[in-house]
Amino acid sequence: MASQHSVPNGPGSRLTNNPVDIYREKISEALAPITRKTPQEVYEKLAWTQTFDKGDLGLPVPSLRIKGKKPTEQAVEWSEKFPESDLVAKPVVAGTFLQFFFKPEPLTKLIIPSILNKKASYGTNDKLGLRDESDPSKGKKRIIVEFSSPNIAKPFHAGHLRSTIIGGFLANLYEAAGWDVLRMNYLGDWGRQFGLLANAFEMYGSEEALERDPIGHLFDIYVEINKLSRPQEDAIKEKKEELKQVAEAGKETLDLENEIAELESKSENERARQYFKRLEDGDEAARATWSRFRDLSIQKYKQTYARLNIHYDHYSGESQVERERMEKAANILKERGISEDSKGAILVDFTKHGDKKLGKALIKKTDGSSLYLTRDVGEIVKRDELYSFDKMIYVIASQQDIHVAQLFKILDLMGLQDISGKCQHVNFGMVQGMSTRKGTVKFLDDILRDVGEKMHEVMKANQAKYEQVEQPEQTADTLGITAVMVQDMSGKRINNYDFSLERMTSFEGDTGPYLQYAHARLCSISRKAGLSPQDIGSADLSLLTESHAVNLVRALASWPDVVQNTLKTLEPVTVLSYLFKMTHMLSSSYDVLKVIGSEPELMKARMALYEAARQVLHNGMKLLGLNPVERM
Ligand code: ARG
Repeated sequence: MASQHSVPNGPGSRLTNNPVDIYREKISEALAPITRKTPQEVYEKLAWTQTFDKGDLGLPVPSLRIKGKKPTEQAVEWSEKFPESDLVAKPVVAGTFLQFFFKPEPLTKLIIPSILNKKASYGTNDKLGLRDESDPSKGKKRIIVEFSSPNIAKPFHAGHLRSTIIGGFLANLYEAAGWDVLRMNYLGDWGRQFGLLANAFEMYGSEEALERDPIGHLFDIYVEINKLSRPQEDAIKEKKEELKQVAEAGKETLDLENEIAELESKSENERARQYFKRLEDGDEAARATWSRFRDLSIQKYKQTYARLNIHYDHYSGESQVERERMEKAANILKERGISEDSKGAILVDFTKHGDKKLGKALIKKTDGSSLYLTRDVGEIVKRDELYSFDKMIYVIASQQDIHVAQLFKILDLMGLQDISGKCQHVNFGMVQGMSTRKGTVKFLDDILRDVGEKMHEVMKANQAKYEQVEQPEQTADTLGITAVMVQDMSGKRINNYDFSLERMTSFEGDTGPYLQYAHARLCSISRKAGLSPQDIGSADLSLLTESHAVNLVRALASWPDVVQNTLKTLEPVTVLSYLFKMTHMLSSSYDVLKVIGSEPELMKARMALYEAARQVLHNGMKLLGLNPVERM
């Protein structure tokens, strides 16, 4: 992995944010005259190493493209000429690679105080999000992150869970990079199912139940009316099959056609369609009912998202896209000859516009009503007008890859490349086997409660420890949430995974509870040592000479680079792997680097190291959206 920094220069430099940049600069300046390249050119080729035995930074010699000598010989020559400095040792030659090792003591003295001073801001870089890095007065770049986006009255499924977790993380990430972040939830709050729902409420609804548990109640009555509607739809489908066969056989079909029309006209689906039509036409009573369903649901959503540290700046939704907007879009498509009529409906045939994979998509039904895709087109244009964003991320399951690609393509075809060019689809794979122990998942709450209860059981299994936890229920809840989130973030986004209550709640392996334990353990060491911040701040860091200590410091030094790399991968696992690597190093250090029982000066120095490690772990967990616990 090559890093893509520019050489820091002048007051706009990133030096203050990322200590490793000091080393990059030092190495590039020393190598420039030797390689006859500019410092900038060398700087760009300095890469992170996979493991510390390969150095702190590496240079693949061939990457500088110097003709003549063999890269292996060049490596030897450059290494010999490289002036050893107080910060960096002479590079080690490994084939065509130069490995640069930072000298331990100056590194320790640079990194630890830097972390202890910067605290929560260590690893953040508020300059990256500036419109102009050298002129903060020009303001920050704005990003919209659209995520979670569940459908009212329908189950909160695994796709929504992943979108919530990944989106929450991405929003934090851009915030850490100094962007102005707008968190948006685009609710599925429109469509025929709202007609079905309103009718269901008339038949089975209870005001009281709605107030108490809007999401649960709406879901229940939706299930109830579906029990009526499903068999009706099945019967209609059956008749239609029959009709097809009769017609193929060349027999009389009128009776059957009448029968089907009769069934359809009496169906719940038809009643729903009519209700939804009223809603789309702006009927006030229908609108008021719908509004109440929506508002109450949002209230409840807010409470649940808060448990995950997520707060939205805006609840948008499919209902919020004005009809005129969609009309306007449709007109542009028509004028440009992009859309076409098809039996009264309107569609775009992407295969005619250079995109075979995208097939065809309806943009208007025969009855004139809009579709999911049309609403997305209207909404994106609206967001551009309202928020004039610099970038927008859609966090949506890979099952909707085609949908999102069609959306972006339509914008291109409308001549709105300036908008589509700012948009990015961040997708993810499926979760298998997500159900609660009590049955169907209704909402996020059900999942979180279930995992919290399981975590409580796991904690109780260790009676002695359990008794020391002050607020076991609350801790179990936090651990449960961590367990779910860490499991979700443990692989690349695009991979599918199995939702496993057993595995995610275990303390063994790279799990959420293990990560929390690592944090709580550092807090506990600090409590037992009882040193003041002044004690820690005045520690003699040259005492940290053991390889365990030095390697920990090297790991801590790389945190800002990890954050920066994550901005490229947009993968939570980039952060998570780093945190696990660091916690593994920590747990193998405790026996070697004891705090309690050591000489006072050594105690201070080691405590400074552990406190710095705790801070970085804390920052990483917060970035992922986790709540680090102090005791468990
Ligand atoms: N509500 C949709 C669903 O549950 C997800 C919406 C994703 N966002 C979007 N702009 N289409 O499938």
